[in-house]
Amino acid sequence: MKKTHALAGLVLSTALFGAGLTNAFAADETLRSLADKNGIYIGAILNSQWFGGGLPGNYEQIHKSQFNIVVAENEMKFDATEPQEGRFNYNNGDKMVRYAQQNGMRVRGHALAWHSQVPGWVNNYKNDKQKLLKVLKNHIQNVVGHWKGKVAEWDVVNEAISNNEPQWRTGSVWYQGIGPEFIDSAFVWAHAVDPDAELCYNDYNLEQGVNPKAKAGFLLEQVKRWVKNGIPIHCVGSQTHVEDTTTDKHFIGSPDSLRSLAKELAKLNVKLKITELDIGFKSGINVSKSDLERQGQTFRQYLDIILEEPNADTYLIWGVSDKWSWLGGLNRQKGLIYDDNLKPKPAFDSILVRLQTYEPPKDSAKADSTVKDSTTKDSTALDPGQSIKQFNAPNSLSLHVAGRTLFVTGLASKTTAKVDLLDLQGRPVYSTNCINGTVDLSNIAEGLYVVRVQNGSTNLTKRISIK
Ligand code: G3I
Repeated sequence: MKKTHALAGLVLSTALFGAGLTNAFAADETLRSLADKNGIYIGAILNSQWFGGGLPGNYEQIHKSQFNIVVAENEMKFDATEPQEGRFNYNNGDKMVRYAQQNGMRVRGHALAWHSQVPGWVNNYKNDKQKLLKVLKNHIQNVVGHWKGKVAEWDVVNEAISNNEPQWRTGSVWYQGIGPEFIDSAFVWAHAVDPDAELCYNDYNLEQGVNPKAKAGFLLEQVKRWVKNGIPIHCVGSQTHVEDTTTDKHFIGSPDSLRSLAKELAKLNVKLKITELDIGFKSGINVSKSDLERQGQTFRQYLDIILEEPNADTYLIWGVSDKWSWLGGLNRQKGLIYDDNLKPKPAFDSILVRLQTYEPPKDSAKADSTVKDSTTKDSTALDPGQSIKQFNAPNSLSLHVAGRTLFVTGLASKTTAKVDLLDLQGRPVYSTNCINGTVDLSNIAEGLYVVRVQNGSTNLTKRISIK
C-alpha cells in the first residue's frame, strides 16, 4: 500500500489528536489486516460474557474483523478446565477454539499454573509435594494435550514472582507445596505434550526496567538460568496493565522500560509478547478528550515495541470495550480502545494509523513463530458432530508454520501462490509455487526467516522461525 508522506503525516497527526479519524487510506483496512501485513498478532480477550452469549452482535463482529489472535479471559484457567480432580471440562475452551478456527485466528492459552483461580481441591495437597507434582503434571498433560495443534501458545506459568521485592511469590500453592522448581517442570511437561506450542512465562509490572531490584530484573535472571538449563521457554508475556501516567500514580510503567526487557530477552532468543494490555484512568475522575488522546499515544508507544523489536510479535489487549472490563475491580476505568458503546476511541485511531504508516527498516524483517495458528486442518478433532468449515473471507490470505510445513489458507480458488523465503537481511533463501496450500520446508535450515506469499493481487509477508 503506497501513500504520500504528506498525507501520512496529516493522518498521523490528526489521529494522534483523536479527531475521530476515519481511515484515510483504505476503507477496508483493519487492525487485523494491517497486523497481518506487518507480520504481527493483534488481539483481545473473548470476555467471559461472550461464552454465555451475553454480548451484543457487534462485539463479535468487531472482534473477528479487527483481531487475528484470541485468548479466553477465564475459560482455560485451572478452575475452569479441571474443576474437580481428574474431571476436565473443555466446553468453553472448545467454543473459543471453534470460533478461532472459523475466523482464521491464532489461539493463546491462559493459564496452566497460577496461584489464582486454582480449584479448592488442589489446596488439599499443598503439604504433599509428590502428589502436587502429579496433580500439576496431569493437568498440563490433559489440557495441553486436548488442544494440541489448536492452541499455538501457552502461558505455562503466570505471576510466580512477588511484587514487593525481587523474589518468588511465596503465597502460591505451587511454590509452597513444590518450590520454585515447579516452573521448570511445568515448561518441560507442556513441551513434551505439544512441541510446536510456544511456551511463555507471563507476569505484570514488568515495565519498570531490568535492574536487579525490579521485578523484570529478577525475571531476567531466571530466564537466563532456564535457557542455560535447556528449559523450553520461548517467550515472556508482559501483561502490561498500566495506568495513564498523569491521572493515576499507583504504578508507573513505561514503554521504554519494557523495550529494555525485550532487548535483553532477544539476547537469549526469547520473545517478548504484550499479553493483557490496558491503560486505565483512576475510577471516578472525569476523563477528558485530551486524556483519551494521551492514552492513544501510550497505546501506540507499546505497539512500537512490537513493530520495532525483532523478538516481539504479539499485542493483545485485555478487553474490547470499556463496558466489559475487569479494571473496575482495580479502581480504574476506560482502559481499552472501544468505548462503552463499542465505538472506537482515539486509542483505536492511534494504533490504526501507526500500523498504516509504519515502514519497517529496509534491512530488518519480523520473523514469526513456527507454531501453528488455530486454523488446524483436522476439523473433526474437536467434535465429529460439529466439523469446522475453514472460513476464509475474500483476500483473507493467511499462513502459518507447523513443524516443517508451511500452510497457506485463503488462496483464490484454483490458483497457485508464489512463495519466497528470505533471511532477515532480505536475501532470498528458497522460492517455490504453492499449489495445494502447503509448502515443505524440511530442507530449510533452522533459523528466523521472512516468508512472502503472492496470490494474484494479494500479498502477505510474515515472520517465521524454523526449529
Ligand atoms: O464464574 C463465576 C460466577 O459463577 C459467579 O456468579 C461470579 C460472581 O461471583 O463470579 C464468577 O467468577 C469470576 C470470574 O472472573 C469469571 O467471571 C470471579 O469472581 C472473578 O474474580 C474473575 O475475575 C477474573 C480475574 O482474572 C480473576 O483473577 C477477571 O475476569 C479476569 O479479567 C482476570 O484476568 C487476569 C488474568 O487472568 C491474569 N492477569 C491479570 C488479569 C486481571 O486480573
